[in-house]
Order: sequence, then C-alpha cells, then structure tokens
Amino acid sequence: MEHTNPSMRIARAPQGLPAPEDFFLVDEPMPRPGEGEVLYRAVYMSLDPSMRRKLPAPEGVPAPLGGTRQVGELMIAGLPPPARGHTGGFVGQVAESRHPAFAQGDLVQGGCWWQTYQCVPGDSLEKLPEGTRLGEALGLLGQHGFVSWCGMRNIGKVKPGETVLVSAAGGAIGMIAGQLAKADGARVIGIASGDKVQYVVDELGFDACIDRKAENVSDALDRLCPKCIDVYFDNVGGDVMLAAYDRMADFGRIVICGMASEYNAPEEPFGASLRPVLRKRLRIEGFVVYDHYDDQFAQFQAEMRALIAAGRMKYRIEVIDGFANAPEALARLLEGRNKGKMIVRLGPDPTG
Ligand SMILES: NC(=O)c1ccc[n+]([C@@H]2O[C@H](COP(=O)([O-])OP(=O)(O)OC[C@H]3O[C@@H](n4cnc5c(N)ncnc54)[C@H](OP(=O)(O)O)[C@@H]3O)[C@@H](O)[C@H]2O)c1
Repeated sequence: MEHTNPSMRIARAPQGLPAPEDFFLVDEPMPRPGEGEVLYRAVYMSLDPSMRRKLPAPEGVPAPLGGTRQVGELMIAGLPPPARGHTGGFVGQVAESRHPAFAQGDLVQGGCWWQTYQCVPGDSLEKLPEGTRLGEALGLLGQHGFVSWCGMRNIGKVKPGETVLVSAAGGAIGMIAGQLAKADGARVIGIASGDKVQYVVDELGFDACIDRKAENVSDALDRLCPKCIDVYFDNVGGDVMLAAYDRMADFGRIVICGMASEYNAPEEPFGASLRPVLRKRLRIEGFVVYDHYDDQFAQFQAEMRALIAAGRMKYRIEVIDGFANAPEALARLLEGRNKGKMIVRLGPDPTG
C-alpha cells in the first residue's frame, strides 16, 4: 500500500542528545474525522528545544530527563487537545471537515502529533487570518513572537536607555525578544554561538553579541555591561543564568522564559543563592505563554504587524524537510548549531 500518512514514533529513550535511531517512521492509516472533528494536513511543524523533555528517560536515569511520552507512542509537539490550536506546534490546511466553522482548504494552526494527517476536534483548531504566510504563523506572528512579546511586555518592561541581555539571541525567541527591546530604545547585548553571533549584530541590530563557545561569558559581561544589566531575558538557565544573575542592576528584572541548557542535562543543575534577589531588589518571574492568549494575543499581533510593516522586525528560518530529518535537527538545535527558527516542512505550502 502507498505511503499515505507518514508519522514518527518513539523507538527508545535517547542516551544524551536525541538521535535518528531513537525514532521510527511509519505509514499510519489515514484517519477519518468524526462529528465535530477536522482532518487536516500538516504543512510545517515547529521544532522546539523543550521537545527533548517529552522523550522518555533511560531506565534508572533521574529527572529532569524523564519525559511525558513512552516508547512506541507518537512523538508530540505543543500541547494535545483540548488545548487550543495556537498553542500547538503545527500549521496546515483542512483536508476534510465535520465541524461547522471549518471548510476544506482553510489554513489552520493546531494538532500536536508528529503525523502528516491528523484528526482533531474542530474546537481545538485556530483558523489563520486571510493572507497569512504559513511559515510566519509559526514564528514572528505565532507562538514564538508571542512568547517574546509576553516576556518583554509583562515582565521585562524595558525603558529607553536600559541595558538588556538576551541569551540564545539567534534562536527563535531570542531574535524577537532582542528586537523588541531595541524598538523600546534599549541597548541590547546578545549571547549566542556560531554564525548567529554575527547575524544578531549585523542583521538584527543588537549592540553586541557574546560568543558563548569562544569566550568566557562572565568576562564578556563585565566588559560589555559594566553598569550592570537592567533586564535579562533568559532562554537557557544554567551557567549563563548564574553569570547574568550576578551582574544585575538594582531593581533589575529577570524574565525566565526557558532553560534550554538544561533540557538535555543528565541531572538538575546546581542552583544559586537568592541573596542578590533581596539585596538588589530584583524581580525574577517565570511565565508560560498559554496563560496569555485570551487577553493579549490580539494586541501582540497588531503590534508585531506594525513592526514588520515598518521594517523593524527581521527573522531567520531554517527549514528541515520531513520527519525523518527532525531528530538530527533537534539535536543540532539543542547544541546551538541551528541557524534561526527551525521548522520542519511536511508537504507543499499553499501560501508559497
Ligand atoms: N515560557 C514559555 O511560554 C515558552 C514557550 C516556548 C518556548 N520557551 C522556551 O524559550 C527558550 C527559547 O526557545 P527557542 O525555540 O527560541 O529555542 P532556541 O533559542 O532556538 O534554541 C535553544 C538555544 O539555547 C542555546 N543553548 C543550548 N545549550 C546551551 C548552554 N548549555 N548554554 C547556553 N546556551 C545554550 C543554543 O543557542 P546558542 O548556541 O546560539 O547560544 C540553542 O540553540 C527555550 O528554553 C524554550 O523552552 C518558553
């Protein structure tokens, strides 16, 4: 029988970085939508470092490697229904609908399994606005843009002239977070590796960028932020977080967005004393983007569209072809060997 529905399942618990052998590609039967459901074809899948945390842990290995999925199960991106579509990791096109709000051909966001054709409750899908380019819907105008915006607007609250530090500055969220701070009049320092270091300065307009693999991050921070850091947008946790934490200004704000350095770590990293939090009256606040969709997503989209139209928001996407290449790409992302936001193309893009 012809391959109709390529799907990726988990073959075994990874030892360290995920490898192609940890997954297997199968042709699953084409699902049929029930009443109130939609069958849609996934066009792009967002590749996120936190996917590492969803994979099972080898036996006897302690947290944080213990994930939510088991050997033999489908791999997952985003959240399963009933979570709403824009919280998922896919964009695609409706193939068949048994839900009154959707028709064949509609562009949608939603679904969560590493599967080309998925049947999902129509209520969990989001219809994408007319004129949306599917690639953009996963990046600037989608969850990654919104995560950056929520962190900066709700916690960072950048003022003109402040010094803002962004880790994983050349990644999906860091690229946008830094440009938002620039648009607010801040001096922005990035931390990245590889060719992203040059890219965030030359193309995105950051004031400087530390190459975390080529120099000592603490020394570089002393050189570049002698008057301390007002806002640290933390995408990575670990040692970089500790170096920044030590160099915060009084009343500084630390936006805890993610802990990418820890997702593939064999054990919980060493924590730090909270004394500077008291002494410097710091505000350290974590956030999860899912809490903000209902009340802030529309405001974010309007602001982001205006910045894009004014030429003040750039973005780099690395496209990977097919589920088969996704595990190796995920390993590259976790190590910092990506070139911008990584998305996996699963079929023809009707928006070009
Ligand atoms: N709060 C929320 O609601 C929310 C939602 C979605 C995602 N997130 C989080 O946001 C963060 C950024 O996500 P993203 O998709 O934009 O990923 P990303 O930044 O494109 O990828 C992660 C990057 O972290 C850096 N990194 C890896 N290991 C490191 C280490 N040991 N030390 C320092 N840096 C290291 C690498 O970049 P360099 O090598 O270039 O430094 C790597 O490419 C992630 O932690 C993710 O989980 C949060």
